[in-house]
Amino acid sequence: MFESLEGYIEPGSEEDVLVRRIDLTRLPRHVAVIMDGNGRWAKQRGLSRIEGHRAGSDSVREIVEASARLGVKVLTLYAFSKENWRRPRREVSELWSLLRNYLKKDAHVLMENDLRLLVIGQKNGIPKIVLKELERVERETAVNGRMTVVLALNYGGRSEIVDAVKRILRERGTDPDALTEESFSGLLYTASLPDPDLLIRTSGELRVSNFLLWQIAYAEMWVTPVLWPDFRKKHFLQALVEYQQRERRFGDIRPR
Ligand code: FPP
Repeated sequence: MFESLEGYIEPGSEEDVLVRRIDLTRLPRHVAVIMDGNGRWAKQRGLSRIEGHRAGSDSVREIVEASARLGVKVLTLYAFSKENWRRPRREVSELWSLLRNYLKKDAHVLMENDLRLLVIGQKNGIPKIVLKELERVERETAVNGRMTVVLALNYGGRSEIVDAVKRILRERGTDPDALTEESFSGLLYTASLPDPDLLIRTSGELRVSNFLLWQIAYAEMWVTPVLWPDFRKKHFLQALVEYQQRERRFGDIRPR
């Protein structure tokens, strides 16, 4: 069981100094992460790209644990975009098999720690064998309430919006005034979730890459040059410290 922070952070360490700067009552409720740089990490070491993704899975484990221990309520990870299908066939199939391995190995970690798994993206494009596992773990963890781990798979922000519009055209009446920002949000894959407060991107790129386009309207962005396989709890804590130093005004002139 992931207990709180006691025994997890070494007293006097760099992490300890960072944790002390964080107000645990003002954490972002929802943190979304664009996990980038696996390929570059591998290349720097003369390894295959898939080795980079494998190392990236360890960072996933570490950040899931850190988020749960700190008390973040929703953690969304961009694990496979609709554009990722353009990669070489072997890399694509290795990515899906890494995900299957993660589910096999870590489903019990989710269960034991009261974590819920939720998949967002176009499910019908996900390989059947992986989808079956994903849906099983989603079902088994559906009642867990400590934190929701959202995996964005076969995900694209624009197609999420188009899918919502298609639903409106198919299911709703024709009264345009009945549509509000709130009701539209309720038609997205993230319907049950709060919008991200903090968006982290690794490996230094300053792009949003078609990720949660609607939902990140007011998110604070934090970009680090650290490549995803090197991303550790220390970096996550740095992101939280900087997030708390920002003034969130949501268009107002005063912080809210
Ligand atoms: C981006 O790095 C990363 C991905 C496209 C995939 C992310 C997948 C994982 C971290 C592993 C499996 C996931 C889970 C949830 C267990 P890149 O390949 O684009 O890196 P590059 O820009 O340096 O080439």
